[in-house]
Amino acid sequence: MEKKRTPRHVAIIMDGNGRWAQARGLDRTEGHAEGARAVRDAVETAARIGIEYLTLYAFSNANWQRPRAEVEALMRLLVDFARRERAELRAQGIRTVVIGQLEELPTATRQAVEDLMAYTADGQQMTLSLALSYGGRQDIVEAARALAVRARAGLVLPEEIDVDFFHREMSTSRLPDVDLLIRTGGETRVSDFLLFEAAYAELCFLDLMWPDFRPATLVECVERYGAKERRFGRTSAQVQSASGRAFDPIDQGL
Ligand code: IPE
Ligand code: IPE
Ligand code: MG
Repeated sequence: MEKKRTPRHVAIIMDGNGRWAQARGLDRTEGHAEGARAVRDAVETAARIGIEYLTLYAFSNANWQRPRAEVEALMRLLVDFARRERAELRAQGIRTVVIGQLEELPTATRQAVEDLMAYTADGQQMTLSLALSYGGRQDIVEAARALAVRARAGLVLPEEIDVDFFHREMSTSRLPDVDLLIRTGGETRVSDFLLFEAAYAELCFLDLMWPDFRPATLVECVERYGAKERRFGRTSAQVQSASGRAFDPIDQGL
């Protein structure tokens, strides 16, 4: 009997808040506020259906280029989210971590997020990782720079650098590879999200705007994921013959 596969790590590009608001004659900021409510549902649902890691693209390093008032509104919403949700996240056993450059955020936002991380640090049910001032290329470049510094000091040999070694230098070092990458908002691009970590992720692009994302939407994406055959470069026959044991690229030495 085939075991139903739940993705271990789901990442979401939460896009479309602005358009959701504009379509209703509202300010873009109201779309972000509504988006924060959708976050709450997504997190709860992910934990309930057994996802171990959920990474949410909340603010990219390119988003700093938006109008100042919009950036400020987003930073305030993050503070609100961190304060409002922390008791519930802790109660549900959800640990919060951050990827990206937390130090770039305004002090009040950074503080609220750090409090949230400390408050939920013992959670065992799921890891919620928030991508804040995050850029995938930047994360790769910084890892390369850190390794270059250590190599110059003679602490790293160039030949020891492989994929795992490199990944340990990245802000996602404690997260497994992405299994399922979801993007709402109708665009079919990755916008600099998890470029290294989503190398073999299944992609799910949705036309609905992020504030319209519901628990059932996540369940549907996970079901679609479950029907895919992940081959990691092999042939279908090879994957099938390995499927007595669950096919796992780590077991396969990949
Ligand atoms: C995503 O929604 C949220 C952030 C980028 C912070 P957008 O604000 O990008 O919404 P659209 O794409 O303009 O509709
Ligand atoms: C990606 O959305 C970033 C987040 C969802 C936080 P954007 O709206 O910034 O992406 P582009 O500009 O459409 O590629
Ligand atoms: Mg957008």
